[in-house]
Parts: sequence; C-alpha cells; structure tokens
Amino acid sequence: MAAAPQTDTLVELLSAGALVTVVTGAGVSAASNVPTFRGDGGLWRRQRPEELATARAFAADPAMVWEWYDWRRGLVAACQPNVGHEVLAAWSQRWSGFTLVTQNVDGLHERAGTKGVVRFHGSLWEVQCWSACRASPARWWDERVPLEPLPPACPHCDGILRPGVVWFGEAIDGLVLERSSKAAASCDVFLVVGTSSLVHPAAALIDLARRGGAYTVEINPEATPVTSRVDLALSEPAELALDRLEQLLAARGGA
Ligand code: OAD
Repeated sequence: MAAAPQTDTLVELLSAGALVTVVTGAGVSAASNVPTFRGDGGLWRRQRPEELATARAFAADPAMVWEWYDWRRGLVAACQPNVGHEVLAAWSQRWSGFTLVTQNVDGLHERAGTKGVVRFHGSLWEVQCWSACRASPARWWDERVPLEPLPPACPHCDGILRPGVVWFGEAIDGLVLERSSKAAASCDVFLVVGTSSLVHPAAALIDLARRGGAYTVEINPEATPVTSRVDLALSEPAELALDRLEQLLAARGGA
C-alpha cells in the first residue's frame, strides 16, 4: 500500500526506529463511547470540568463530586478499548523507545495492553484519603462499581475518600512530570492525539518536543491551539488515523 504523501515522513521515521512519545487525551476514547470532557455529552449536569474537578468543589459537596466520578467509572467499566488504543499498545510492545503519556483517567490504554503508561492526571480507579490520614497509603486501587456509599469512607480513619486524580489547581506528581518532560524533550517523533490541548502543563509538552527538534504530529478531527504549530496535522479521528498508520507500517515491514 502506498503511503499518502502527507504521512510519508512520519511512516519513514516510525519504521526507522525513532524515539516516539505520544500524548493522548479524551478523544482517543471517544470511539469506545467514553464522552470527551468538552464535547457533546461530556458535560455532566451542565457543569464544566473546571468547576467539578477541584478540591474546592469537593470540599463544598463531596457527594456531588463523587456522583460525577461514580457515573464516569460506571460508564467506562462498560466500555472496551478501540483500535486506536490497540495500535498504541502494539507500538509500546514493539518499540523500546516508545513512551505513552495519557491525560486520560479511564484506564483503557492499560486495558489494551500498553506498556509503561505514564498517567499524567492519575486514575479513575485509584482513591486516596481526603485528609491524607497517616494510616493510609498515598493512593490505592478500588475498582468497585458503583461505589457505595457516596462519599466512600476511608477504611483507615473516620474520614472519607477522594478520587486519585489530579484536579485543577493541583500539581502533577513530580516523577510523572519529570518522565513526561524527558520523553517529550528527547524524542524524535512526538504525537499529540485526541486532546483539546487546553489544559496545562500537559498542553505544554509539545513545546519541549519542538525545542528538542522532534517531528511533531497532531491527530484530531477538530483544530486546537497546537494545530498550526505541528509539522503534520491529521484532521481525522484517532481510531482511523492510527489504524491507517499501522497498516502503512505493516506494508513497509515495520509492524
Ligand atoms: P477534551 O474533552 O478537552 O478534548 C477532547 C478532544 O478530542 C477534542 O479536541 C476533540 O476534537 C477530540 N476528539 C473527539 N473525538 C475524537 C476522535 N475520535 N479522535 C481524535 N480526537 C477526537 O479532553 P482532553 O483534552 O483530554 O483533566 O482534556 C484534558 C483534561 O481536561 C482531562 O484530562 C481532564 C479534563 O478536565 C482532569 O481530569 C484533571
């Protein structure tokens, strides 16, 4: 199969063993029927994520914020990874110089078998003690669906649990930020897939990649603030673009 001219350089770099870093957002899970945050159907009870996903909102009404997360947990539990997740998982297994950084908290990259996922915003499936009680670990897995009662009780103290995700206004874990920044700054190919590129610091990783001289690619059917700054903008759904790239790699013997 002949590569569409616009993807020639990308396919060539990928099949030549380039160091590849991919940053994903909610759009990668759209084909799995997980609503994006800012698209149609993503707003829960008409509330913007910037208003719900904050320590302030949680302090004011933990049950309401937990209802939102419990809704997303239930919804995601019924979804399956799509071909976009599967291609990225295959790349992670095939190439040692591959890093996947995801803003997604849904766990679908992990369920597709992706190696070494860097979870930039934590996970829907982790919890932590809201008062960071001394008896509890920093975070732990809790995959009950639904979670009852809401808010769930901390098993280590008489307080409550909070979701193990990074909220607006909170810092990204230091090690996660370091790994992601290094992977962005030192790669040969940087792909930003299915994110509105509105939320920082994740949205700034592409600047590190550009400064490091990487070939930069965006896959998103809609224009974003980074579209005009990448070397290649593929204006199409991730599941189609990634599937096509994988087929082109296979045709060159690189898959
Ligand atoms: P958004 O909802 O902001 O953006 C989703 C992006 O996916 C949009 O740019 C869509 O055009 C694009 N999109 C939709 N369908 C797609 C498809 N099939 N293939 C490719 N792209 C598609 O979601 P994020 O950018 O992930 O933070 O949002 C960033 C952060 O804001 C999230 O991690 C979350 C949220 O509030 C926290 O939870 C802290």
